[in-house]
Amino acid sequence: MSDAASTVLRPLCDPATELDARFRAAIRAATGVDADPAIRASGNAKFGDYQVNAAMALAKELGKNPREVADAVLNAADLAGVAAKCEVAGPGFINVTLERAFVEGRLAALAASPSFGIPPATDPHAVVIDLCGVNVAKQMHVGHLRATIIGDSLARVFERLGRRVWRENHLGDWGLPIAMTLAKLVREKRDFAQLTLDDLNAAYRGAQRETATDDLDAAHEFRCGPHRLAELELQYEPSRAAMEDAKKTLVRLQSGDPEIVRLWERLIEVTMEQVYEAARTLNAKLGPENNRGESFFRDRLAGVVDAFRASGLAKSDKGAMVVPFADRERPLLIQKSDGGFLYATTDLAAVRFRTYELDGDLVVYVVDARQRDHFKDVFDAARLIGWNKTKDGTESTLVHLGFGAVLGADKKPLKTRSGENFTLKDLLDEACERGAAEVMRRAADPNAPTHGLSGNELRAIGAAVGIAAVKYADLSGDLTKDYVFDLDRMIAFEGDTGPYLQYAHARIASILSKSGESSDAIAGAPLTLAEPAERALALHILRYAQMVLDVGRSLETNRVGLYLRTLAELFNAFYQSCPVLKADDTATRLARLRLCAVARAVLADGLSLYGIAAPERM
Ligand code: ARG
Repeated sequence: MSDAASTVLRPLCDPATELDARFRAAIRAATGVDADPAIRASGNAKFGDYQVNAAMALAKELGKNPREVADAVLNAADLAGVAAKCEVAGPGFINVTLERAFVEGRLAALAASPSFGIPPATDPHAVVIDLCGVNVAKQMHVGHLRATIIGDSLARVFERLGRRVWRENHLGDWGLPIAMTLAKLVREKRDFAQLTLDDLNAAYRGAQRETATDDLDAAHEFRCGPHRLAELELQYEPSRAAMEDAKKTLVRLQSGDPEIVRLWERLIEVTMEQVYEAARTLNAKLGPENNRGESFFRDRLAGVVDAFRASGLAKSDKGAMVVPFADRERPLLIQKSDGGFLYATTDLAAVRFRTYELDGDLVVYVVDARQRDHFKDVFDAARLIGWNKTKDGTESTLVHLGFGAVLGADKKPLKTRSGENFTLKDLLDEACERGAAEVMRRAADPNAPTHGLSGNELRAIGAAVGIAAVKYADLSGDLTKDYVFDLDRMIAFEGDTGPYLQYAHARIASILSKSGESSDAIAGAPLTLAEPAERALALHILRYAQMVLDVGRSLETNRVGLYLRTLAELFNAFYQSCPVLKADDTATRLARLRLCAVARAVLADGLSLYGIAAPERM
């Protein structure tokens, strides 16, 4: 067995794990080969529960007939206590129908497992998730929403898998633009205690405008006559002065002048208050402990350039330092000719920190797809110098998970009605309001489970619904694609939406509570899977751990949504064909309630991977 195969983690309660072991042994006995039995869930219950697909590839390898190989493997297989029926079909599939008692036993094991059968992690290294990435003195925008939601969800998945996880918020909190903003606010004698993020934003833009000398630069470049130049110089005198002031402020900041540092910290505080509030609303785990922004790496930048120079990987180009690549024209600029460092220099320092000091053997950068070239260059440079290694020398995987844009109905980047860029706060406020309106509308029906709840309770459920709508839409598609932000569709209780799954969860919760049985009585009932709909639901529940492992491997968060939707559908099919509260006898009633309870727990756990709340009533 290869090293890679031996470290593959298998879900503990999944029948596929047991089938894999049994058929692996059978293949070895029948052919002498150590091969993956290729166990797949059967596409059609008519042919059984699982298929073993290995015979075709094996036959090719051995120069034999695939059906004969399948027969030999099946003859050698010990399936006692696992399979009730097995047969070779088609070109050489083995169709397996599991023993009912085996499935019941696996499901009981899953129900008793706090991790739903997810095996304990064996990789001692950490997973590092670069998420959020807001910039100080600027409003958080929809791109940062995606970076926060997706990053948080991936972190939750790895936490579920038992990995050590670092959520790193690589704030834009350092450099000239911030010094410009700071200098402007100081010049205007603003009261820093009273500043809001809107003030910072306005100052940021104002500072950009004030210091712009584009016309003058152009006039110099195109050698305009002395009159024109003198005129422009005069006009731009204040810009020059503002820039001088900003540069002085930057020097004071860099040298740790306590007065300026205190004001700078205040800018970060004002910016981050809103970010933390958005994170709370979004149910994303993000706080001051996750902040390791550009400023954190400021003292390591000269060392980065030195290391690249010393190893001969960087060369001087017109006074600047660049790292050339063998396979492309574009080099990576790591130091400007004026000595200044760049975004990329900081990211190189951050890669080193994350792999070596944080011990990450997987570092995932959840950042806008438009930064693709930047990360390609940074990762390649890091690999050239060998910074893609953990402390014990294990190779780290560096991934840029470049997500697509959020578009408005017109397929253009999302704007408000007045045509401005949507801020995150506008968007979340609207989602919560719309969620509340929908929940209140439904609660007006005297038969609704929410009928009679207080306004506050309904608003809280409504906010959870609105946020679920936004998060589900963001996480359940192909992350790399743009998507259209359509609250009407996203908030519907039917269809491929977050609220649909929450509603499915609330329905199960209400069946359980209507039963009048205590949770102990339900948890103690034996699980019996007599009906096909019960069995289909149980088999899907047993695949939960594999799904979570697959998301960890692929970073495809949409697999969670797909899994949960199928779970909800199989639950509905079960509930339609198998009466629960009105079951024929007490034993059946309790057994079905138990199945409901397990389905509910898995649904809630799956929603928690998206950081989506699962209200009991909706
Ligand atoms: N502040 C950056 C931006 O808004 C995102 C930071 C992403 N993370 C990183 N390690 N570069 O574009």
